[in-house]
Amino acid sequence: MTRPLIQLPSLFFCLSLFHAILSVAVAARPLNCSDTKPTRRSLLNNGLGLTPQMGWNSFNHFPCTLNEELIRETADAMVSTGLAAVGYEYINLDDCWAELNRDSKGNLVPKASIFPSGMKALADYVHNKGLKIGIYGDAGTQTCAKTMPGSLGYEEQDANTFASWGIDYLKYDNCHNNGESPQDRYSKMSKALLNTGRSIFFSLCEWGQEDPATWAPAIGNSWRTTGDIKDNWQSITSRADQNDPWAAYAGPGGWNDPDMLEVGNGGMSTEEYRSHFSIWALAKAPLLLGCDLRSLDDETLGLLNNKEVIAVNQDKLGVQGKKVKKDGDLEVWAGPLSGHRVAVVLWNRGSSTASITAKWTDIGLKSSTVVDVRDVWTHSTIPSVSGQLKATIDSHACKMYVLTPQ
Ligand code: GLA
Repeated sequence: MTRPLIQLPSLFFCLSLFHAILSVAVAARPLNCSDTKPTRRSLLNNGLGLTPQMGWNSFNHFPCTLNEELIRETADAMVSTGLAAVGYEYINLDDCWAELNRDSKGNLVPKASIFPSGMKALADYVHNKGLKIGIYGDAGTQTCAKTMPGSLGYEEQDANTFASWGIDYLKYDNCHNNGESPQDRYSKMSKALLNTGRSIFFSLCEWGQEDPATWAPAIGNSWRTTGDIKDNWQSITSRADQNDPWAAYAGPGGWNDPDMLEVGNGGMSTEEYRSHFSIWALAKAPLLLGCDLRSLDDETLGLLNNKEVIAVNQDKLGVQGKKVKKDGDLEVWAGPLSGHRVAVVLWNRGSSTASITAKWTDIGLKSSTVVDVRDVWTHSTIPSVSGQLKATIDSHACKMYVLTPQ
C-alpha cells in the first residue's frame, strides 16, 4: 500500500500551525492603506447598523431575572441619566422572557408572572421614551437557559409575532440546534425578519464557532465572535483578542461582536473598565451596557457617557481598529477615522507601570505627518506632534487618543 506523503494528523498539525502563525501575524501588524476600507462584499439590506448598535441588555446583570418593571425602570434610567442623549437607544430583553411552552396556535407567550402586561404594552412604553426595544430568541429547539422554546422551525411565525409587538431588535442564540448548519438556521430567521416588513436589527449570537464574520454580513447586522464574556480581566482581554482577527469583515451594516459590556458590574477596577470600554469603542464593537442603570455611580457613568470615546465607535467611516503592535503585555491598538484622523489606544496589559510608544508608521501615518493629539479621556489637546506618541501607563490601564493631521 502506498503511504500518503503527509499523514492526516500531521496535515492538521501543519494547517493549525499555519493558522496560528497567520493569526499572530494578523494580530499585531502596522496599519496600512488597505486597512481603511471594509473588505465585505455583501450586506444585509435592512438599512440598520450603519454604526455599531448602542443600548442595554439584561443578561450580564440580570441573567434569567428580568421582568417588565425592570425593563420599564431601565428605559426610564436610560433617559434620566443622559445615556439616551449620547446615543444608547436599544433596551434589550435576554433569555427567560417567555413561558416554557407555546400556545395552542404555536405562538410564543410572554411569561405571565414577569410580563403580566404583555410585550406590546412594554414596547409602547419603551417607544414612548424615544427608545427601541429588543428581544431574544434561539436558533434551536430551546433557549440556552432552557426556560422557553427556540424558534427553529417557527422562524416566520415568531418573526411575525415580534413584529406585531413592535420589536426593533432580535438577538438570536445558538443553543440546542440539532447540529444543523448555522448558515441555514440564521438565514431562515434573517429572511423571516425581512419578510415582516418591520425594520428589525438582527444580532447573531453564534459565539464565533463557524467563523460567522465570513458569512454573517449577508444576513445580520452583528455577529458574536466569542463565547460569553465575564466580569473579569482575563475575560475581556481574551475576548478582545479573539475578536481582533476578524476586523476586515466589519463595516457599516454589520459588526463583529466580542459580547456585551461588563462596565459597572463591580468585578474590575475603574482603569480596567476604562480599558474594556476604550477597546470596544475602537474595535467598533456594539456598545451594549450590561450593568444596572438604575443605580449607576458617577465613575461608571463618567466612563459610559464619554461622547468623545463614543464618537470613535460611531465614526461614519466604520473601520474596526485593531492591535497593530505588541511588545509583551504592552500593546498599541489603532484604526482610521473619517477625515484622515486616526484613533489610538496605548494599552498596558501587564502588572506594572510601563512606557508605551506608537510610531506614526505603526498606526498608518506618514513619518512626516504633524498631528494634533486629543486625549479623549482627559479631554485635552497637545498641538503639533510629530513622529510618535509615548506615554507612561499604569498596570491594566490605557490612554486613548484621536490624532488629527494638520
Ligand atoms: C448564551 C448567550 C448569552 C446569553 C445566554 C442566555 O450563553 O451567549 O449571551 O444570551 O445564552 O441564556
